[in-house]
Amino acid sequence: MTAQLIDGKAIAQSIRKELKQKVADRRAAGKRLPGLAVILVGDDPASQVYVGNKRKACEEVGYVSRSYDMPESTSEAELLALIDTLNNDKAIDGILVQLPLPEQIEDAKVIERIRPDKDVDGFHPYNVGRLAQRIPQLRACTPMGIMTLIKSTGVDLHGLDAVVVGASNIVGRPMTLELLLAGCTTTTCHRFTHDLQEKVSRADLLVVAVGKPGFIPGDWVKPGAIVIDVGINRLEDGHLVGDVQFDVAAERASFITPVPGGVGPMTIASLLENTLYAAERYHD
Ligand code: GUN
Repeated sequence: MTAQLIDGKAIAQSIRKELKQKVADRRAAGKRLPGLAVILVGDDPASQVYVGNKRKACEEVGYVSRSYDMPESTSEAELLALIDTLNNDKAIDGILVQLPLPEQIEDAKVIERIRPDKDVDGFHPYNVGRLAQRIPQLRACTPMGIMTLIKSTGVDLHGLDAVVVGASNIVGRPMTLELLLAGCTTTTCHRFTHDLQEKVSRADLLVVAVGKPGFIPGDWVKPGAIVIDVGINRLEDGHLVGDVQFDVAAERASFITPVPGGVGPMTIASLLENTLYAAERYHD
């Protein structure tokens, strides 16, 4: 392998350590502990794992963690009522509703009900709009974590051709806005994109978030590119693999994220950063 691995696990750990110290400093100064409410609706096994990890990380750094587990049959009105209560709760700095939601609940309605100053997922149109206008405050966690990883390489991003594969509200779209803000020339690819190989193969910086194992052949990667693989796909044999064919890509890239241990741990680290940010900027 010629590429350097970007060690997301280690970078996330060092962020968590710093946050733990900041919480200890707040405690010593007689300040309130940051508080995060995590809401899970239904019993999707993957969501249960993600939410469990978020709650655990929150407790580990010393935040107040509040858990709300609601049944699959929860109505939209019930969920909105809980959000209203948490919006008005002074002990809560951040509200996270794990997605996807059951079909009777409209994601956009729920996201818009969360007060923008408690939107630690950075999904509210107010916060996405701020990012689009180059005045970000709360930023979507996975793209924010990816920017931390990319910056750790020390590479100057100005003028790089960045290609994002995937255009979801959670990763692809805010990722494109982050890279644009960082001075890249950005291309966003999605299901209607023509000649994906042509776009991918000219990327100096490639971010792939499609959720399909090995979706991008390694030999599409431009020699020297930075490759960020957001996919976490479990194969039938139990192995976790990304969206990029790792072995071949790692022979061509300058830097590459592993799966697991790349982007995954950064999402939670960014969520914790956002929660402290909300406490300090809006609620102290
Ligand atoms: N589902 C997948 N990723 C995320 C995330 O970052 N936040 C929330 N709330 N749900 C998700």
